[in-house]
Amino acid sequence: MAAREIVENIYAVGTINWDLRYFDAIMPTPRGSSYNAYLVRGTEKVALVDTGEPNDEAEFITNLMRLDQNSLDYIVCLHGEQDHSGMLPLLLDVFPMAKVVTNEVCKGLLVEMHNLYEMDDRFIIVGQDDTIDLGGKTLKFYLAPWVHWPDTMFAEVVEDKVLFTSDFLGTHYASETLFQNYDLPDYLEAAKRYYAAIMMPFRASVREYLELVKTIDPKIIAPYHGPVLKMPAKIVDLYADWASETPKNKVVVAYVSMHGSTKQMANFLVDALIQRGVPVNQYNLLDTDSGVLGSAIVDAATIILATPTVLFGPHPVAVNAAYLVRALRPKTKYLGVMGSYGWGTNAVNYLAEMLEPVGAEILEPVYIKGLPDETTIVDINKLADVIAEKHKDL
Ligand code: FEO
Repeated sequence: MAAREIVENIYAVGTINWDLRYFDAIMPTPRGSSYNAYLVRGTEKVALVDTGEPNDEAEFITNLMRLDQNSLDYIVCLHGEQDHSGMLPLLLDVFPMAKVVTNEVCKGLLVEMHNLYEMDDRFIIVGQDDTIDLGGKTLKFYLAPWVHWPDTMFAEVVEDKVLFTSDFLGTHYASETLFQNYDLPDYLEAAKRYYAAIMMPFRASVREYLELVKTIDPKIIAPYHGPVLKMPAKIVDLYADWASETPKNKVVVAYVSMHGSTKQMANFLVDALIQRGVPVNQYNLLDTDSGVLGSAIVDAATIILATPTVLFGPHPVAVNAAYLVRALRPKTKYLGVMGSYGWGTNAVNYLAEMLEPVGAEILEPVYIKGLPDETTIVDINKLADVIAEKHKDL
């Protein structure tokens, strides 16, 4: 990504990875991503707001050279995760006069992760509402822990009302444009995937910092991933909806099937819900990446997982889905499990136990031997009745 001016003397100098398909080797990123960093030039001092992935160092240094930036006074670290701090040791060598500006928690992580034990004199610690004057550009700091690490903070260029939000409000979305066009459906899909995978488990913190962002009232939000946001209210509204504790009248039925029994059960349930007017989406877990599933469960009031039995327990793909639901802690109110078996009988109990920490009500499971019969259809219709009743007031 070329270095580009956001407003006068504030530049995006990060890197872009069009080919990235798994962020952190776990999160599918069909639209790639970017590792954003920003250069703020005052009349007296220059600050680099974060660094980036070590693999991208040539592109990163090239961006600084294109701006004729041969020295730095400050390297601001808003968050220590390696995709933003990985280049810090190199930059501390390249710019020996630069001081690292960060908070106490982030400093601890940076020192330990990058073995910076001998560099105490290179650090300046800032706290809530502290400022650094660059000369006509004032950096103001806001502590914002737990979106999504304990060290995270924001920095505002007060005169320009540009807010750097670290990972918060970002998106894994490679784009040739500096600023985001919210009308692109694939951008909105990527934004929801990103929220689901990174921010959803921290909903209370998300809501708290949305209020902080509203109070700061920035003209521009510059996050760590994806395009820069010129109309912050739009992303704030989207996040407010996703991070609320009010799920939507929507059911997710996610299944995997070996011999067709579990697929028939999923089909019966989805058909029964449609007949009752309950919005539902069905996902075959073999063909559904974790980003799609994560996005689907952001606001679903009910999630049903269906699995065949492999040896003594659930199919591994269903275990993976249950782990994802448990880890991401969606605001779903009702969870259900269905399944089929030949001789082993513990698959649905295993899944139900995995899902317990989510804190949702676990619905009566439907578990059958072999193919569904008349009794199964009665039981699935009962499950659909229960879901329809519970969704009446949503
Ligand atoms: Fe983009 Fe938490 O790192």
